[in-house]
Parts: sequence; structure tokens; C-alpha cells
Amino acid sequence: MLKGGKVGLRARHEDDIPILQTELYDDVVNHSRSDVRPWRPVTPGSKDSRLIVDDKEERHVPFSVVELDGGTLVGTAVLWNIDNHNRSAHIGLGLLPSSRGQGYGTDVVAVLCHYGFVVRGLHRLQIETLSDNAAMLRSAERNGFVREGVLRSSAWVMGEFLDEVLLGLLVQDWKPDTRG
Ligand SMILES: CC(C)(COP(=O)(O)OP(=O)(O)OC[C@H]1O[C@@H](n2cnc3c(N)ncnc32)[C@H](O)[C@@H]1OP(=O)(O)O)[C@@H](O)C(=O)NCCC(=O)NCCS
Repeated sequence: MLKGGKVGLRARHEDDIPILQTELYDDVVNHSRSDVRPWRPVTPGSKDSRLIVDDKEERHVPFSVVELDGGTLVGTAVLWNIDNHNRSAHIGLGLLPSSRGQGYGTDVVAVLCHYGFVVRGLHRLQIETLSDNAAMLRSAERNGFVREGVLRSSAWVMGEFLDEVLLGLLVQDWKPDTRG
């Protein structure tokens, strides 16, 4: 398990799946705001790649996020589109509603940076998030990500096009211990 100050990132366990499906995935608005793919219902027990992990998919590394204190499941995190030639990847995360606003998101980003830069030897990490997602923007910026641009009207979200902000962090600018 990868450990931050408050959370751990571990493999997806089978009994995580119904919790993630009910509390995260089945929330159509939240899903539509945090996933580029359109929401659609997932049949319980199906092999849908949004929840079931395919260990053979090397470019996509999903984690379940747990509280270090007690091990309760609090959400998901992912390093995706890992490109070993350009040594870059994207990061994504989603916390259960009851676990938001307690500093976990900032900690998850820190752990994903450690995984990307230290464990995987990457050079650049990237995040795209809706321009009104203040908590995600702040979680990224507290870990040193900088805003590199606005992708105008790039996301179709519940009936309208919204802007996304592109944030990036290079390994040489990463300061693992100071989140200011
Ligand atoms: C985005 C998300 C991962 C952030 O995690 P979090 O644990 O809620 O965020 P934190 O508690 O670490 O807060 C980070 C910062 O944002 C601020 N913040 C938290 N919630 C906020 C809100 N609703 N509005 C404005 N600021 C907020 C915090 O005060 C903190 O700022 P600080 O460092 O100055 O104190 C989480 O809210 C979430 O899962 N949201 C739904 C899914 C999602 O949007 N995923 C991202 C898709 S790209």
C-alpha cells in the first residue's frame, strides 16, 4: 500500500465495488462532472472497466483510497494514460461524498505524485478538471501543479459545455514535503 499523511492507496478489493457503485458511480451529476465518458447504468456483477480493475491494462493503474486510521474505504484514485516514452501520465480521483473536504483529496494527489515520479520514474503529471471545481484545483495547486491553460467548452456536462483547466507538474518542480 502507498501511504500519505491521512490516506492509503491500495488495490481494488471486490467488496469495494458495491460501495463505489452506490455512493460514487450511481451519482449521475458527480460522474458527469468527473469522467469524460457519459454516464450509463452498470449491471451489478458486470465487468465494467470503471469499477473492475484489469491488471493487464498497463497504461491505467487504479487504486482504492482508504483511511490510514481504520482502513475505511473513502474513494478512488488513478494514474491513467501512462506514456513510458514521453514519461507522462494523467491523474484522477473521486472521494465518497461523506469523505470530502477533510484534506483527503490533497493527500491523494500527493500520494499519486509519489507513485508517478518515484515509483514509475515519470517526468510530467497532468490533471484536467472543470474550471469550477475549486476543491480539485486547490488539491492540485497545493501539491505544486500549475495552471497551463483553459480548454474552452471541452466538456459536455449535463446539458452544457463547460471549460476545463489543464494543470501540470514536472518532476523537478515537485516538492514532496511542502504543500503550500
Ligand atoms: C475534488 C476532490 C477530490 C477534492 O478532495 P477533498 O478531500 O474534498 O479536498 P480537500 O479537503 O483536500 O480540500 C482541498 C482544498 O480545497 C478546499 N475545498 C474543499 N472543498 C471545497 C469546496 N466545495 N469549495 C471550495 N473549496 C473547497 C479546501 O478548503 C482546501 O483548501 P485549503 O488547502 O486552502 O484548505 C473531492 O472533493 C471529490 O472527490 N469531488 C468529487 C469528484 C471530483 O470532482 N473529482 C475530480 C475530478 S477531476
